[in-house]
Amino acid sequence: MSASKRILMIGGSGRTGKLVVAEALSHKHTVTALVRKPESMTAETQSGLITVAGTPLNIQDVRRAFAQSQPDVIIVTLSAPRASDSPFAAVISPPRLMADSVSNVVAVMRENPNVKSKIVIMQAFGAETSWQNLHCVMQLLMKKSNMIYQYVDHDAVAKETRASGQTYVFVRPSRLVEGTSEKVREWDNDGKGVPMMAGITRESVAKFLVECAERRQWDNSAPVIAN
Ligand SMILES: NC(=O)c1ccc[n+]([C@@H]2O[C@H](COP(=O)([O-])OP(=O)(O)OC[C@H]3O[C@@H](n4cnc5c(N)ncnc54)[C@H](OP(=O)(O)O)[C@@H]3O)[C@@H](O)[C@H]2O)c1
Repeated sequence: MSASKRILMIGGSGRTGKLVVAEALSHKHTVTALVRKPESMTAETQSGLITVAGTPLNIQDVRRAFAQSQPDVIIVTLSAPRASDSPFAAVISPPRLMADSVSNVVAVMRENPNVKSKIVIMQAFGAETSWQNLHCVMQLLMKKSNMIYQYVDHDAVAKETRASGQTYVFVRPSRLVEGTSEKVREWDNDGKGVPMMAGITRESVAKFLVECAERRQWDNSAPVIAN
């Protein structure tokens, strides 16, 4: 286990986000979450989570959360929701939900150079430079369904975060599945060779995100991961 970090969670109320909060607290890190509904985090608060009420789409809320946390690391597990998990379900979030949220976080990082934070962002296999290595059947499914909007948003996050000059890690999991943590396989070549039906449990992703917060070996890289 590494030295205790101050971690600011953006998206901590989501399915992966809650697992990241639990994993980080179990490693004795100090965890603050900016969440729209703090009442949805009662169990985590009892385990030591600090919550700040607000949304990453409002830069003043991000400033308050940042001032509270003074984070060594910001972990982002946002998702731009559709009406259901079906690939064809209607998009119900703003088109740049993730890009505008991360843009606010990066702006606040720049306002606080003395804090020396890095940002670890959960994305998806197929985002940005990994698109070329997604199986052509999966590419077709993405392009023909409403999942493409999530990829466009992830791409904007990657482009704008790289351009900001801040230290980042883009973690790109393959298809998410339920289940306990399992061994994580990494592809540091944008996912070239990842099997078409590869999957990874959310718990495995959560552990990997916390490892990225604790260690520097993935800084300024975009590992694709699967079980
Ligand atoms: N599905 C897959 O197979 C797959 C594969 C690889 C990667 N991914 C990626 O995994 C990531 C996380 O997915 P997940 O399933 O863990 O997410 P999730 O459970 O849907 O959680 C979404 C999070 O985003 C927040 N959020 C949503 N809309 C918001 C808004 N308008 N304003 C502020 N916050 C908002 C939610 O906050 P509230 O609780 O306040 O709503 C929640 O914390 C996504 O980026 C996705 O692209 C998915």
